[in-house]
Amino acid sequence: MSTPRIIVKKDPNDLSLSAAELFASAAIEAIAARGRYAVSLSGGSTPRSLYARLAAEYGSLIDWSRVHFFFGDERFVPADSPESNFRMVDEALFAPLGIAAHNIHRWRTELGDPAAAAADYEVHLKQFFDLAPGALPRFDLTLLGLGEDGHTASIFPGTPAVHETERLAIANWVDKLQMHRLTLTLPVINNSTQTVFIVAGTGKADIVRRIIDGPPTADLPASLVSATGNPLIWLLDAAAGARLDR
Ligand code: 6PG
Repeated sequence: MSTPRIIVKKDPNDLSLSAAELFASAAIEAIAARGRYAVSLSGGSTPRSLYARLAAEYGSLIDWSRVHFFFGDERFVPADSPESNFRMVDEALFAPLGIAAHNIHRWRTELGDPAAAAADYEVHLKQFFDLAPGALPRFDLTLLGLGEDGHTASIFPGTPAVHETERLAIANWVDKLQMHRLTLTLPVINNSTQTVFIVAGTGKADIVRRIIDGPPTADLPASLVSATGNPLIWLLDAAAGARLDR
């Protein structure tokens, strides 16, 4: 496993600036090389400022018609729920840039039950990436967040998703939340060309240190994320990186 790149920015504003530059350079490279850019977005609150910056500053710098947006995970809620990762990104990025519906690949939580939504997403992944049996999708970029308990996407400690090695997309019951989450699995995440954790805030400093400085462990699912292509990148603000001895 290659050594991760640790990038610490002085504040959340600089963090979102660097994240946008990274997103854009990966997009321009992928579109030039392969005619399209497939990105797996992270949810939660941290990346919202990145998405808003892309909408505000990169409208004319990226050929958005060639960008395909997937979601690394989703809450099992309606797409218009305040809890929905899709709704968060739609408000911050898709609507402001007028992203076409066929470029947006959301989890269809309207399908009635979590397993059906996950199975539907898996079929869609196989179709979009034109996968041979047993093959894995390869995103050009996977953005990930980090929870204070060491979860990433919706792969929470002690949940079935931690040990999933066959399926691409699953419904994952999260006892501590008393809810189902939908998530890409580690084999998919670890097959990405470029993977970037974007983490901010003092509250994440300890878990960042434990994951970066410690061994991979199922107790901290984010520590099981590895990079196959380019080095894994940890993009942190000073607060989240405060406990790293670097
Ligand atoms: C989600 C995310 C999740 C998130 C972390 C960090 O659906 O919430 O995918 O993995 O990235 O929980 O969330 P914050 O950025 O809100 O701290």
